[in-house]
Amino acid sequence: MSREVRGRTGPLRVHFATSEVFPLVKVGGLGDVAQALPKSLARRGHRVDLFLPRYTGLPAGRRVAALDVAAGTARARFEVADQGEHDGVRYYTVGTAEQLPWDRPEGYVEKDLASFVLFSRAVARLAADWRPDAVHCNDWHVGHVPAYLRTLNAPCRSVLTIHNLAYQGLFPHSMAGELGLTEYGTGNLLAQGITHADAVTTVSDRYRDETLSPLRGCGLDGLLRERGGAYSGVLNGVDYDQFDPGADPHLPARYDVGDLAGKAVCKAELQRTSGLPVDPAVPLVAFVGRLVKQKGVELLLEAVDELAALDAQFVFVGRGDRFERAFARAARFYPNVAFHADSREPVARLAYAGSDMFLAPSEFEPCGLAPLIALRYGSVPLVRRVGGMAQTVADPGLGLSFTGNDRAQLLGALWDGIERYRGGQGWARLRERAMRARYTWDEAAASYERLYRPPAADREKGHRR
Ligand code: GLC
Repeated sequence: MSREVRGRTGPLRVHFATSEVFPLVKVGGLGDVAQALPKSLARRGHRVDLFLPRYTGLPAGRRVAALDVAAGTARARFEVADQGEHDGVRYYTVGTAEQLPWDRPEGYVEKDLASFVLFSRAVARLAADWRPDAVHCNDWHVGHVPAYLRTLNAPCRSVLTIHNLAYQGLFPHSMAGELGLTEYGTGNLLAQGITHADAVTTVSDRYRDETLSPLRGCGLDGLLRERGGAYSGVLNGVDYDQFDPGADPHLPARYDVGDLAGKAVCKAELQRTSGLPVDPAVPLVAFVGRLVKQKGVELLLEAVDELAALDAQFVFVGRGDRFERAFARAARFYPNVAFHADSREPVARLAYAGSDMFLAPSEFEPCGLAPLIALRYGSVPLVRRVGGMAQTVADPGLGLSFTGNDRAQLLGALWDGIERYRGGQGWARLRERAMRARYTWDEAAASYERLYRPPAADREKGHRR
């Protein structure tokens, strides 16, 4: 089959570049996306190779290639190692064992920037050699890839997905010289990607629209507006094989829409392991997420005394240095508040399954996978009406929502939720609708496929971008 024919309809070859992939390395939602989207593409018949930095602590893998990479004065000999096939996707690590330590619970810091530039150059070089149809780059860590693909004149398309515009990989002018980046313009790796990628996406239409305004554009709204129709929203999905209360190995009992007996068992277990009174009747409200400002934890802490005065129980789950102490203090003080300084999967799963309501008060949220997972587990999300959460939960009426920044609105929505919970029937219907809602990866994968293929005009001319 010729390349052009394959480019139009047939199976695609995609290189997927990411700084994390669940369960090998996970900081946040990107880890879940990197696991699930390539898997979904592979199921649709495409060949996907995933590229991850060779973090300290990862297995060495089977060496398949070596390359000398350079960026200005930074130089390294990188190994490309095959890490096996996962759900039909081949994983590769790229780098040296010393290159990047994996010890940053809140993600990477700017001083790792040189390592990510070298990683990005290696990813671009591999694409120039292996010639996939497209390279799919995720977030600032690999924002340099689309720019460097142009330098290499690589015959493949590049797609950049922004999972969070607030993290950009900023670097000072001096570093631009050292790393040989001056010709790419900006002191910002994400901006390089936005400028040079053939297509730029973010993880919901609503967040896309928000980022076009100065309020949520994080200084890049002008650049994003310049990309016009090349910047689009592709909503994330949920991997329903993984997040299935009917088969979840982390739960003490399983359940689904037709039979919720197992959910009651999970609730009792969550109450017990949280040191809360075991009581099936009291509404249990959970929060699961990184304890960072973006997730709205400041609002939660501001409101915690009033929350504790409500006739409900609260379980907070997550890590984040700055805020852990405050949550721990609230948990010690109030008998109906519990805190797990934990980000491990089994704890999170029990919180989804054992709760009646799921709090997601994020200040902004590109997609917001946690409330989507909560829907499936029958924990009715209570979200701030922003970004992906406005689109997926609030607008279709799949949960409760509030707007604005003050705690009166949060408390009002929560109070309303508690009333409805106690009302019985209406709540059962709301929960059932939540559990039946589906946001699949298949739909997202179909959208990305269109972006991986060259537009018709380019195909006719016989070149690919
Ligand atoms: C980031 C965003 C989150 C999104 C995730 C996956 O973590 O903050 O909203 O769901 O990426 O795209």
